This record gives sequence, structure tokens and C-alpha cells, in this order.
Amino acid sequence: MLSQKMQDALNAQINMELGAFYTYLSMSAHFTTDNLLGLAAWMRHHADEEMTHAMKIYDFIQQRRGQVVLQALAAPKTSWSSAIEAVEDALHHEEKVTASINQLVDLARQERDHATDSFLQWFVDEQVEEEAVVDEILQQLKRVGDFAPALFMIDRQLAEQAGEPEAEGEVE
Ligand code: FEO
Repeated sequence: MLSQKMQDALNAQINMELGAFYTYLSMSAHFTTDNLLGLAAWMRHHADEEMTHAMKIYDFIQQRRGQVVLQALAAPKTSWSSAIEAVEDALHHEEKVTASINQLVDLARQERDHATDSFLQWFVDEQVEEEAVVDEILQQLKRVGDFAPALFMIDRQLAEQAGEPEAEGEVE
């Protein structure tokens, strides 16, 4: 059984992962409006991953005979002044998620909840990858700055990574 404190903290993490889903979906919508369809596809794919993260925790709480308690989601930001600003926001979001996962691990260890500690290690590893991937895109965007043809090339590469043939086609 999960302790009440551990259960509350895991439920709060579900909310944070769903918040990430909402934020990246909103970024995807913004990039579609800006006709950056590769970035839009990549963000949508990333949003889907966040939903998967939320559901992993959802399933774990239930496996441990705990209670899932869903909480309200804050409305996400809807526009950004540049692709760099949006991806910077995404990186900051990932850093917050990493800090939150680390706090969850600390709590599991304080409580000697080895099952939750073990479960959370997947998230610890995942966050290393998530931060690295978002930072790589940010560095690429910063390198090209306002040079539209290079931004277009990055956008095409991201469309390919996200496996969105329509996005790739439309960019051409
Ligand atoms: Fe589930 Fe990107 O943190």
C-alpha cells in the first residue's frame, strides 16, 4: 500500500505530466498557426509522450491499491514570440519535472517505499533524455537565429523525426 503522503505526491506528479501534455499541445497548435509544421509535429509527439508518463503513474497508483485523484489543469500559454522562446519554455518545464521527480525519489527513500523508488528510476532516466533532446533543438534554433532558410531546414528535420509525412510534404 502507498502511504497517503506518497499517494498525494504521485497524484500531483500526474497533474504535472498532464500539465506538460497541455503545454506541448498548445505549443504544437501555435507552431501550426506559424506554419512551422515540423516543430508542430514534434511538439505533438512530445505531448503524447507526456500523456504516456501521466498514465504510467496512474496505473502504478492503482496497482498499489491507491486512489487516483485527478486535479484541475491550468490553462497553458497560447503564443510565443519566437520558436526559441517556446523551446526555452519547454526546457524550463522539463527542468521543473526533473526536480519534481527527484523530490519524489527522496520521499520514497524517506518512507522506505522500495517499490515506488524502483518505479521512479524509469522517470529519472527518462528526464536525462528529455532534457537533452529539448536542449539540442534549442541550441540548433539559437545557432540559426532569424535566418529563415536554416529554420526551415530544422523544421523539416523535426517533421521527419516526428514521422509526420503530411507535415513534411507541406513544408516542401
Ligand atoms: Fe514527463 Fe517531459 O516530462
